[in-house]
Amino acid sequence: MGGYVVTGSASGIGAAVCERLVSDGERVVGLDRQDADIVADLSTESGRRGAVSQILSAFPDGLDGLVCCAGIGGTSPRVELIPEVNFFGSVALVEGLADALAQRHGAVVLVSSNSAPQPSDDAYIEALIAGDHAAMAARLSAVSGHAAYSGSKQALARWMRHKAPDYARRGVRLNAVAPGYTRTAMTAETENHPEYGPAIKEFLASIPLGRAGETKDMANAIGFLLSGEAAFVSGSLLYVDGGHDAMFRPDSI
Ligand code: NAI
Repeated sequence: MGGYVVTGSASGIGAAVCERLVSDGERVVGLDRQDADIVADLSTESGRRGAVSQILSAFPDGLDGLVCCAGIGGTSPRVELIPEVNFFGSVALVEGLADALAQRHGAVVLVSSNSAPQPSDDAYIEALIAGDHAAMAARLSAVSGHAAYSGSKQALARWMRHKAPDYARRGVRLNAVAPGYTRTAMTAETENHPEYGPAIKEFLASIPLGRAGETKDMANAIGFLLSGEAAFVSGSLLYVDGGHDAMFRPDSI
C-alpha cells in the first residue's frame, strides 16, 4: 500500500495538505518535530536519517507522494536552523526516498516561497545547491535572517529544477509551489514582530487579489501538483500568491 508523506504536518500549510489528502481518501503519514505520526527533527543530519528510515518502514510498497512543508521563518532567533530545515531538511528527504517514490511513479512538491527571487547572498545559495555545508555555514554569519530565508527558498526551487529531469526519467515528478503571504503560525510571528510588523501590513494591502493567502489555497495547488491531472507537469515552480510576483516581476518568466 502506498500513500503520502507530508512534513510540517502539525501546523499551517502542512496540516491543510494532510486534511485535503485525507478527505480525498488517501493514506497520509504526517511528520513533524511534535504532534505527528512520525516525530523527527529535520534540522539535524541524524534527525533526517531517522525520518527517512521511519518513512521507508511505513511504506514498504513505495510512496505515491512527498510534500515538504516543514520550514522555519526568517525571524527565527536561530538563523542556522533556516537553511538546515528549509533546504537540507527537504532535499535529504527527497534523496532518501527517491527509490520508494520511483517504485510507484510518485510526485514530490517542495514548498518554496514567493520571496525566493528576492536578493540574498549568491555564495550562500550556490553552497546550498551544491550541498556544501561548510561553505554555506561560512557565508551564513554575513547573511540576515530574512536573506537566509529567501535564499534557502531560492536554493530549494533551483535545486528542484536542476534535479527534475533526472527524477522524471525515473518516473518521479518534482515540482514546487511558491506561496505568497499565508496566515499561519509562522506569519503570525512576523506580523507581530516589532520591526517587520508595520511593513507587513502595508505589504498585505498591495496583494493584487486583495487578500492574504489561506492554507487551503496552498493545499489546493499542492493537491493539483500531486494529482494525475498534473501528470505532464515536472520542474515547475507554481506561484500561489494572489498575483504578487507578477506585480513585482512582470518580465521574469
Ligand atoms: P508553520 O510554522 O505553521 O508550520 C511549519 C511546520 O514545520 C511546523 O509544524 C513546525 O513544527 C515544522 N518544523 C519546523 N522545524 C522543524 C524541524 N526541525 N523538524 C520537523 N518539523 C519542523 O508554517 P507554515 O506557514 O505552514 O509554513 C509551511 C511552509 O510554507 C514553510 O516551509 C514556509 O517557509 C513556507 N511558506 C510559508 C508562507 C506563509 O506565508 N505562511 C509563505 C511562503 C512559504
